[in-house]
Amino acid sequence: SARVLSGIQPTADSFHLGNLLGALRQWVALQDDFDAFYFVPDLHAITLPQEPKQLRARTRIAAAQILALGVDPSRSTLFVQSQVPEHAQLAWVLDCITGFGEASRMTQFKDKSSKNGSEQSSVGLFAYPMLMAADILLYRPALVPVGEDQRQHLELTRDLAQRFNSRFGKTFVVPEGHIVKETAKIYDLQDPTSKMSKSASTPAGLINILDEPKVSAKKIRSAVTDNEREIRFDPVEKAGVSNLLVIQSALSNTPVQTLVENYEGKGYGDLKSDTADVLTEFVVPLKAKVDEFLADPAELDRILADGAERARSIASATLAQVYDRVGFLAPS
Ligand code: TYM
Repeated sequence: SARVLSGIQPTADSFHLGNLLGALRQWVALQDDFDAFYFVPDLHAITLPQEPKQLRARTRIAAAQILALGVDPSRSTLFVQSQVPEHAQLAWVLDCITGFGEASRMTQFKDKSSKNGSEQSSVGLFAYPMLMAADILLYRPALVPVGEDQRQHLELTRDLAQRFNSRFGKTFVVPEGHIVKETAKIYDLQDPTSKMSKSASTPAGLINILDEPKVSAKKIRSAVTDNEREIRFDPVEKAGVSNLLVIQSALSNTPVQTLVENYEGKGYGDLKSDTADVLTEFVVPLKAKVDEFLADPAELDRILADGAERARSIASATLAQVYDRVGFLAPS
């Protein structure tokens, strides 16, 4: 069957609600119909400084969360990027067909490098989108499930695939993004016009799925709304309320419209406490499962080693073809 591929960085002690609703839920759903490849991009993580011990721990925590959410390693391939060296190898080839100006236009690079200043920003941060393109193109997936913030990187991936194909002969599949409109961008609870992100200006705007439910409930109760009282879905005029509706809708599998109808005559306090309850119901069993996976790191590492082996069998075949087309001598 057709393939899907996606990745999520191991750069925090927990995934957040944006990661969950924008991407990870789609990962779990897609494995029913696709041959799925999911991975933890630790090579991407080091484009910003990481403490080695912490990176290793967070890589396992990331894998444990993906498994706890329902990615099934007997059907889907789950692996860690650094254990499949072909990613870095293909990235170099793609770096060499990417224009300097083209890479300079990536908005995520511009945001991250302007935060740190160009002297502090690494060349790796600049090359990040081409590594992401390599991650994808190695596996020839039909679909790449991601949130809205990855759209520009996917466009670059498609451009590079087409460019390589037209220069060297058809090699790559040009992938489509799978961006679910309703949840493609979950917003910061304190600043509901900015996306929820681990680098948010205040931790009060960010819901980590492994945090104590009480901590998250408090953040939801303090979420910024507006001065009206009416609960309706209007992302422009009522960004905060609409964000809570989207979150509750996704976590409870209830259409936003149904929620809005049920809230007729009720207030923001009801919306907030229900959203907190639905979140609590979701995260309590999830956290228990994550802890179970983390309690047996040897088994977790075995799952990842098995995934890396499966991933390599595909990645190495694509890379061999690329090396040949580019004009490298065959390995002896
Ligand atoms: P990362 O690790 O920042 O985020 C993981 C996934 O979560 C989505 N996401 C959101 N979705 C909705 N609302 C939000 N507020 C929100 N914040 C994050 C992201 O869109 C993403 O899907 N470059 C990627 C990782 C990567 C990758 C890949 C993805 C590396 N190689 C190949 C797909 C294919 C990243 O940094 O995502």
